[in-house]
Amino acid sequence: MQRSKLTKIDKDFKNKDIISISQFSKQDLEYFFKITDIFKKQNKSKLLDLLKGKIISLVFYEPSTRTFSSFSAAVKLLGGQTIEIQDVSNTSVAKGETLEDTMRTLASYTDLIVLRHPEKGAVQIASESVNIPVINAGDGVGEHPTQALLDLYTIYEKNKTLDGIKGLIVGDLLNGRTVHSLIKGLNLFDSVELFLLSPSELSLPKNLIEENTNIRLKSILSPDQIPGDLNFWYWTRVQKERFKNLKLYEEIKHKYILDNKLIKNKANKNTIFMHPLPRIGEIKLEVDSDPRALYFTDQIRNGLSVRMSLLTLIFGERNSL
Ligand code: NCD
Repeated sequence: MQRSKLTKIDKDFKNKDIISISQFSKQDLEYFFKITDIFKKQNKSKLLDLLKGKIISLVFYEPSTRTFSSFSAAVKLLGGQTIEIQDVSNTSVAKGETLEDTMRTLASYTDLIVLRHPEKGAVQIASESVNIPVINAGDGVGEHPTQALLDLYTIYEKNKTLDGIKGLIVGDLLNGRTVHSLIKGLNLFDSVELFLLSPSELSLPKNLIEENTNIRLKSILSPDQIPGDLNFWYWTRVQKERFKNLKLYEEIKHKYILDNKLIKNKANKNTIFMHPLPRIGEIKLEVDSDPRALYFTDQIRNGLSVRMSLLTLIFGERNSL
């Protein structure tokens, strides 16, 4: 029997797929942040057994470092085990097996699938072919909901709220799935204001502008127009793999660079600097030692607590905490 997918969370994560941030309400996110706080305080050396006896498939049809390894570590810290497929060319995919059949196979051995795929919408289709929960770890230029959960949690942690937050998002707004999910998440909160800075070829897809009307979105044309009172700056990589025209990619990949000079001119003492990583030159190394730069500290570490929290809630083990 097929389960109905893209179900609203409605404060109950048990057995749900996580395909899009649009499944969440403001209350779901606030509840999720509270549970994540518990994992954040947990001593990492003390293995929990919340996922004891569970096997999780990590199946990545696209490259990954952080998402893959933090999910793997999260499962292990919770006492579960993993089947890890990071190179589908070593699987029956290379023989022409469909995504659905690969999913059916993994669903017969494991309890949950974490899937990354190059095509937008593919993770939802995959989830409809199995009766175990599927988590979207990035579907092409679509969404990356677990990255948004950790990004939102990081901003929330620093400001104690997401209402009234003011931020800047820079880079590949067209293809950056982390940006798409982040904007959907921020749209659930009140009085959010976002400034968008991208090469004109990479501006935010129209449908996202139309669907997220609760946020005041303002496109700016140059770093000179960055207001000085922002809570966060979210830089992103120009996504080479989504370009047909590599000459254009080379021309615009480093149009906007985060460096100490820009920080000195436009940031304030509370502005935090974020990036989903990997960076490929758009943040200068000199920025890393700034205590407001969180991409290799709080933001990346929150990826682990957020994924531990999410897996625990999906398996319905929250009461054992
Ligand atoms: C991002 C992704 O895969 O979408 N990385 C990540 O998961 N943290 C960002 C990117 O690849 O640019």
